[in-house]
Amino acid sequence: MSKKALVTGAKGGIGSAITNSLIEAGYRVIAAYFPSNEACARKWFKENNYSEGQVRLYPLDVTDTDYCEEAIATLLQEEGNIDVLVNNAGITRDTTFKRMTAKQWNEVITTNLNSLYNVTHPLFSSMCDSGNARVINISSVNGLKGQFGQANYSAAKAGMLGFTKALAAEGARYGVTVNAIAPGYTSTPMVDDIKPEVLEGIKAEIPMRRLAKPNEVAAAVTFLASDAAAYITGETLSVNGGLYMH
Ligand code: CAA
Repeated sequence: MSKKALVTGAKGGIGSAITNSLIEAGYRVIAAYFPSNEACARKWFKENNYSEGQVRLYPLDVTDTDYCEEAIATLLQEEGNIDVLVNNAGITRDTTFKRMTAKQWNEVITTNLNSLYNVTHPLFSSMCDSGNARVINISSVNGLKGQFGQANYSAAKAGMLGFTKALAAEGARYGVTVNAIAPGYTSTPMVDDIKPEVLEGIKAEIPMRRLAKPNEVAAAVTFLASDAAAYITGETLSVNGGLYMH
């Protein structure tokens, strides 16, 4: 039977590439999307010619603790164990801190950081019981280095790294590895939102002088999910073209 992976934010730029990469590696992917994006998710499923065996679309509001608890309990009943969880859902609300509203702060912290509790907690016990599972958190170069205009996002993405290390310590004895990927600026709709002149300045600072391709981030996820990565845990793997070396 195929291994199963749950990917949040699966139809986004990086999420979609992760889904494709895991399918290629033989996984059945539970592709979680925000419930109000149903039509969009169905269109994405069709456009990619996914089969029901390869991908199961799954509505999941990662910001809602009770909803996640119930939806993931149902998922476990229907699918059995989930072998790999990729916490990928994330948003930006970029603005300077002086102008940032509490709403912009809370939306980013809730979606990018609180979601880790909401989605991982209902799965973690069954992952430990299975004796072999992976949690992979999609953080960001901006969680490592901090970014002008992203006090909310940098805080959440840095928080993901602390969570990764703490949970890695707890999961190790059960064969559950917990790692993070810190992508740099990647060709996705999220980066398309940056003003062109600002983006040009950012690109000029990247030693490779280009954005990451989503499949370059996805390849790192699939590696960390693989049996070959069984002894790697609590690690943050940067995929950033040299933008930040730490
Ligand atoms: N460091 C220091 N100063 C900076 C700066 C920086 N990195 N960027 C801008 N400034 C300065 C500007 O020079 C300008 O100074 P003056 O007023 O003296 O000219 C001032 O700050 C205001 O800058 P903007 O004109 O850009 O201000 P704005 O209000 O129009 O826009 C902003 C603010 C929306 C935050 C904009 O600067 C921006 O989009 N920055 C990029 C944010 C970013 O990197 N987002 C990443 C999104 S993708 C993502 O998040 C994925 C991932 O994981 C990598």
